[in-house]
Amino acid sequence: MRIAMIGTGYVGLVSGACFSEFGVDVVCVDKDVRKIDGLRERGEIPIYEPGLDALVASNTAAGRLSFTTDLKEAMAGADAVFIAVGTPSRRGDGHADLSYVYNAAREVAEHMDRYTVVVTKSTVPVGTGREVARIIREANPAADFDVVSNPEFLREGSAINDFMRPDRVVIGAETERAQAVMRQLYRVLYLIETPILFTALETSELIKYAANTFLATKITFINEIADLCEKVGADVHDVARGIGLDGRIGRKFLHAGPGYGGSCFPKDTLALVKTAQDFGAPLRIIETVVSINDQRKKAMADKVVQFLGGDVTGKTIAVLGLTFKPNTDDMRDSPSLDIVPALQRAGATIRAFDPEGMHEAAKHFTDVLYAESAYDCMAGADALVILTEWNEFRALDLDRVKTLLKAPVLIDLRNIYNPDDMEAQGFRYSPIGRRS
Ligand code: UGA
Repeated sequence: MRIAMIGTGYVGLVSGACFSEFGVDVVCVDKDVRKIDGLRERGEIPIYEPGLDALVASNTAAGRLSFTTDLKEAMAGADAVFIAVGTPSRRGDGHADLSYVYNAAREVAEHMDRYTVVVTKSTVPVGTGREVARIIREANPAADFDVVSNPEFLREGSAINDFMRPDRVVIGAETERAQAVMRQLYRVLYLIETPILFTALETSELIKYAANTFLATKITFINEIADLCEKVGADVHDVARGIGLDGRIGRKFLHAGPGYGGSCFPKDTLALVKTAQDFGAPLRIIETVVSINDQRKKAMADKVVQFLGGDVTGKTIAVLGLTFKPNTDDMRDSPSLDIVPALQRAGATIRAFDPEGMHEAAKHFTDVLYAESAYDCMAGADALVILTEWNEFRALDLDRVKTLLKAPVLIDLRNIYNPDDMEAQGFRYSPIGRRS
């Protein structure tokens, strides 16, 4: 089997590398010459994802994975072409911007000279697959092809494992021929008995949005329960465990925090809200989730200020973690983007440390002092705030933390420490939804 993967962003590069690991010949194609040169000549991975560099290196060496800027070359002999280009939120109306997807479809049509399965891997609104088919037919009436939707369910930071050992694979493919090609591509997953669901195109497209918005709703639910816990003296950690052990609810995605961020949940919740409104079937739950989450990110700075006595003018706050979650350098829609500037506006000086995100963060913040390490960050600060649950922040030497901070004050927006332990250690400690 041979495929072309259009787009060497996060999804394209991870999917391409993983398919090649499955034994498929993969040619990744991108218009960005520098990116392709870097990948081809120096094995330079443009994103941070644990394990991806090794996977790319070994499959490139084995001759199964290659990179080009020439789509024609990439498509020569390909059984399938995956479209994995960006679908950012369109400015102004929140709809997904599909211009990259449709441009890719037009170019694919030009180079099609045998039966080809055209797969949308990018997260695309319901109806995009049909439009891709229409565009290809219009551009090349003689083309022999099927359009398939194959959404990804990869989490940044664990994307390779998510691809190799998924809970399920969803494939919107409506012809036997297309299904057969997809079955071949995912042959390895059949061997480990992964559920593989074949559906209609629109259904597959909607599954992706329904999955992400459901997870965003689950997080938002527990975040609101956390707020209630603080008022009534309950513990959100125990509530999450208590409800999550019910198999119908499940334990995952019930960690209260500063609000969800990242490149997917904020964008996808908004896009589904717009689609539903356009079709006259508004999703009021998701509309509410979007607004609660936006407010929550803003409210977190207030929580910090209140805990520090209501006035942070002239105080130095040490912030650990800037990315939207650990094991990534991704800052997109990170809660820190709301919290850090709000603390600055309130008069605080911010010192920050993030293991991977500081380069990206520097593009967003002004007047933040970046530290060399977690301990360097907190030296002489009035308080410590944990914004992202990187593993290295879970195991801080608390005696050292106490000696470095001006006063032992820790605001833990990810609940990575235990309130009782913190009290025993002599900290003034503020978790989320737990007794402090
Ligand atoms: C998410 C989905 O989990 C993937 O299945 C999906 O493929 C991906 O979007 C996508 O559409 O491409 P990702 O954005 O990488 O993956 O990150 P998550 O681990 O889902 O976290 C998203 C946000 O929710 C983060 O800000 C995280 O801190 C927050 N979160 C997550 C919580 O606040 N509590 C939780 O219990 C879980």
